[in-house]
Amino acid sequence: MPENNTYILAIESSCDDTAAAVLHNDTKLSNVVAGQEVHRKYGGVVPELASRAHQQNIVPVVHEALKEAGITKDELNAVAFTSGPGLMGSLLVGTSFAKSFAMGLDIPLIDVNHMQAHILAHFITEEGFDKPTFPFLAMTISGGHTQIVRVDDYFKMEVIGQTLDDAIGEAYDKSAKILGMPYPGGPLVDKLAGEGNPTAFKFPKPKIDGLNFSFSGLKTSILYFVQRETQKDPDFIEKNLRDICASIQYTIINIVMDKLKKAVKQTGINQVAIGGGVSANSGIRKALKEAEAKWGWKTYVPKFEYTTDNAAMIGIVGYLKYIQDDFPQKGYTENNVTATARLKI
Ligand code: KG4
Ligand code: ZN
Repeated sequence: MPENNTYILAIESSCDDTAAAVLHNDTKLSNVVAGQEVHRKYGGVVPELASRAHQQNIVPVVHEALKEAGITKDELNAVAFTSGPGLMGSLLVGTSFAKSFAMGLDIPLIDVNHMQAHILAHFITEEGFDKPTFPFLAMTISGGHTQIVRVDDYFKMEVIGQTLDDAIGEAYDKSAKILGMPYPGGPLVDKLAGEGNPTAFKFPKPKIDGLNFSFSGLKTSILYFVQRETQKDPDFIEKNLRDICASIQYTIINIVMDKLKKAVKQTGINQVAIGGGVSANSGIRKALKEAEAKWGWKTYVPKFEYTTDNAAMIGIVGYLKYIQDDFPQKGYTENNVTATARLKI
């Protein structure tokens, strides 16, 4: 096993955030993220623009991560990078950069699954944050994913439920768009929901068996509801925005908590960790706290900077693989270390 004095540079570029981080063992030294404003006016991520922005951002972001960490590149033991899942053009920028960087320094290159990283982000040492113990359930909720995963060990995971159509973050963003809000609308819906009545309007919950999710029906019912009401009163949205947001949030949280309750019952595991951009949602955080008090669950919500896409979560997976010797040593010369858009857990 390599000695426990490991510096890892991590690169994340799977979607629209260019990110780099440096970890010393399981502790974060820096975690730099460059977001991409360019997508805002299109109401969603434009893949071609994303990869172009990654190309512009990657060098300064890595430079900043090393500078903030206070180390030089020669002190690095390995380079970890997101190999998938994600947008192919975006992934390729990070992958190519990581490969050449590792090759230049003659150090190992470690490929990381983005979805595993959202889950294993809980193992970055942070004051005031407990690490889950195995086994636990992880729910990854973001603009690109909605999964419930049974985690038996760092690299022993099984997806036991996932969305059949839209991701939960898309449900938030598309609802927000119908209401005339800018992209990404999730945080704004969350904020306004806190000021409205959650039972003012009733939206149907999808009837999906087992632990899978569906969010596309909800979006359609919100669209029809808004169209119907604005025909009667053109100022309907303006007059009722807070109540509409609160009702949407109430419905989404009900869907999520129903599935989590089912997953806990089915597996007998009552430790629940969440990750992904939507885990910043105040309603979900509150519902999990209530579940602790009501049903004795133990829940884990990551530090805010590890909820949305970031490279520190890639770094912790890199570190865990490095100490287990689980990486293609000097794999950068081989073709098996590459980007995979549809990588599974
Ligand atoms: O993990 P993330 O940064 O990127 C990926 O999609 O992978 O997640 C972004 C998503 C967006 O859909 C955004 O609207 C949603 O997370 N989001 C929220 C909140 N904060 C971010 N949704 C609901 N409530 C929030 N507070
Ligand atoms: Zn993500």
